Amino acid sequence: MNTTTRYVLLVIFIIIGLHSILSFTHEDYGRATSISNIAGKIPWSAPPPVVEKPWVPPVSNHTGRANATLLMLARNSDTEGALRSVRELEDRFNHKYQYPWVFLNEEPFSDDFKTRISNVVSGQIIFEQIPRDHWYQPDSIDEEKAKAGREKMVQDNIIYGGVVSYRNMCRFNSGFFYRHPVLQQFRWYWRVDFRPDVHFHCDVNYDPFVYMEENDKTYSFTITMYEYHATIPTLWDTVKKFTSENPQYVESNNAMGYMSDDGGNSYNLCHFWSNFEIADMNFWRGEAYSKYFDYLDATGGFYYERWGDAPVHSIAAALFLRKDQIHFFNDIGYEHNPYTHCPRGDDVWAQNKCACDKGRNFDYDGYSCMRQWDRIQ
Ligand SMILES: *[C@@H]1O[C@H](CO)[C@@H](O)[C@H](O)[C@H]1NC(C)=O
Ligand SMILES: *[C@@H]1O[C@H](CO)[C@@H](O)[C@H](O)[C@H]1NC(C)=O
Repeated sequence: MNTTTRYVLLVIFIIIGLHSILSFTHEDYGRATSISNIAGKIPWSAPPPVVEKPWVPPVSNHTGRANATLLMLARNSDTEGALRSVRELEDRFNHKYQYPWVFLNEEPFSDDFKTRISNVVSGQIIFEQIPRDHWYQPDSIDEEKAKAGREKMVQDNIIYGGVVSYRNMCRFNSGFFYRHPVLQQFRWYWRVDFRPDVHFHCDVNYDPFVYMEENDKTYSFTITMYEYHATIPTLWDTVKKFTSENPQYVESNNAMGYMSDDGGNSYNLCHFWSNFEIADMNFWRGEAYSKYFDYLDATGGFYYERWGDAPVHSIAAALFLRKDQIHFFNDIGYEHNPYTHCPRGDDVWAQNKCACDKGRNFDYDGYSCMRQWDRIQ
């Protein structure tokens, strides 16, 4: 016998030996692998059965979960991008926790969208249409004036300056998503975006919803930056009017120092990038935010200008919450092209199996507002 043959024989003996021991000591194993059982299922010409990995129960048995959902706004034409984003968040986080997903669309979702998304999701999944009056430009808006505003922005080369549907989306994300009937059953949400290119670069090894709840957090972010002033020329003045008429809503230990360099007189344009948000919908549903949103909405600024949900949410969070209720998730690696938050700290980066390039971390880029955030910590 040459050496190879001897090794092959040795391996075969070990396998037979192990099989006998397991069959003897583990009834289930014996039953599952008895020749008659295998023969009954597998044609003789088939390759030997692959030993499957043992089944591992999910990390959570669902009793320790938060009252939360993953939330995505998408259209039927967005299937490919939506799938990539959903799949990454499932792989990096949700397959361990199986939080439900809610997908919202201003039109009914197509069967193709539903089938393909369902195929990559681990938990319950809900597809819903947005009520018309939550989405479209309200009749109270003077369309002539709105059109003039759009044309001016197109001339000035403002991104999405001429697009009505973008404005619908910003207004919906500012003041309506949390009122959707299907979201009433939830308190927490993780907003998941996909355009133009979104990546979750690191494993999320704990439950950020439970973290938020246990640590008395309300709003969170991974990227913060400056807004284009041309999209919100009258927003800050409107906010100041609102707070001077309603001073009771302004929290004393707030985060004003992050968004104003002169004690609130002017806005420095810093905001949390709201395409990533883990937050408490009860904050948006509460009295302060509801009154604030209605006040902003009544001015028509979502259509006459192009107010984004990011500054609208951020200003509310910075004024109506204590600053310690806003959380920066350093350990969640998040890319929304062209910007990436790649966790700081080599240990975090390694532990969470991050795939992002630390050299591309946006935190202290010249366009980032992390310095303004740091100065109030
Ligand atoms: C689920 O997990 C909780 C907390 O770890 C534990 O107390 C409970 O017994 C578990 N329930 C089941 C059905 O395994
Ligand atoms: C989840 O939160 C919503 C909103 O606060 C609430 O109406 C609902 O009762 C909660 N569900 C559970 C199971 O606590």
